[in-house]
Amino acid sequence: MAISFKEVGHNYAGLRKKEYVAALYDINLDIASQDEFICVVGQTGSGKSTLVSHMNALLLPTSGSIQIFDYLITPKKRKNPPLQPIRKRIGFVFQFPEYQLFEETVLKDIMFGPKNFGYSLEEAKTKALDVCKLLGIEDDLLDKSPFNLSGGQMRKVAIAGILSYNPDILLLDEPTRGLDPKTALEVMAIFNKINKEYHKTIITITHDMNLVYEYATRVIAMKDGRIAFDGKPIDLFKNPIYKDCHLQKPDILQLIDYLNESMNLNLDYDIYNEKELLDKLEDVLE
Ligand SMILES: Nc1ncnc2c1ncn2[C@@H]1O[C@H](COP(=O)(O)OP(=O)(O)OP(=O)(O)O)[C@@H](O)[C@H]1O
Ligand SMILES: [Mg+2]
Repeated sequence: MAISFKEVGHNYAGLRKKEYVAALYDINLDIASQDEFICVVGQTGSGKSTLVSHMNALLLPTSGSIQIFDYLITPKKRKNPPLQPIRKRIGFVFQFPEYQLFEETVLKDIMFGPKNFGYSLEEAKTKALDVCKLLGIEDDLLDKSPFNLSGGQMRKVAIAGILSYNPDILLLDEPTRGLDPKTALEVMAIFNKINKEYHKTIITITHDMNLVYEYATRVIAMKDGRIAFDGKPIDLFKNPIYKDCHLQKPDILQLIDYLNESMNLNLDYDIYNEKELLDKLEDVLE
């Protein structure tokens, strides 16, 4: 296992001394180093960002422990290993990652990560250019200031800045939020490619159940700081728990429910897009 949570809890310090806000309780979780595509879902304030921030030791647990590759993370700051190697292996693309941009040019910004993790200038540049190709960042953008790009371009550059140092696992906090639908699809297609072709584990927070149903191999639903469900998306939406977590079914499943009810059919949920649904309907109606 790449990441293993053992009875993890997290309390944030409160406004006054001795006050605290409990944000995570009793989290047990194992995540593989390859091939997982995990979506973390749940109502606002349910603990998604807090949970994910523990996965590269951006936050330390206040109880329990987390094994991240060879490193054991505990509540005791002094006892913890240096965190830089963890951050190298587990990259975090924050919500609105464009706020992470700061260099003079797009190329310099993307090279920053590899340089910071000890690659030579030459190597950093090669890595940056490879990632630009992968993400479809055009050559003529490389010398521009990252601050003069469109929102979607900025988002891609920020993602490139993380991919450039080739982390094993990618953490993403709502990577498509605020993007137009076309750019959002492009960005998700990139993560899908990184998962399918490069076998990297992707862990992403999202409020979009269509994305969950289309991409996730596993979904973790948070409720009031606890894991309410951990399993396959299809099983989450068959389980009343999804309602307790204030989630909506993906469009395609809502459509199947509607057809089943209005046409008295018995279509199963193992249908992932309109084409599959039409094929199934043709079979059933014959
Ligand atoms: N820095 C902080 N200090 C104190 N309390 C915090 C802090 N960050 C989060 N919290 C509290 O911890 C709980 C979980 O917050 P968290 O940000 O993890 O939720 P979330 O599921 O990511 O929500 P959202 O969907 O709005 O991003 C909430 O009650 C929140 O108010
Ligand atoms: Mg959040």
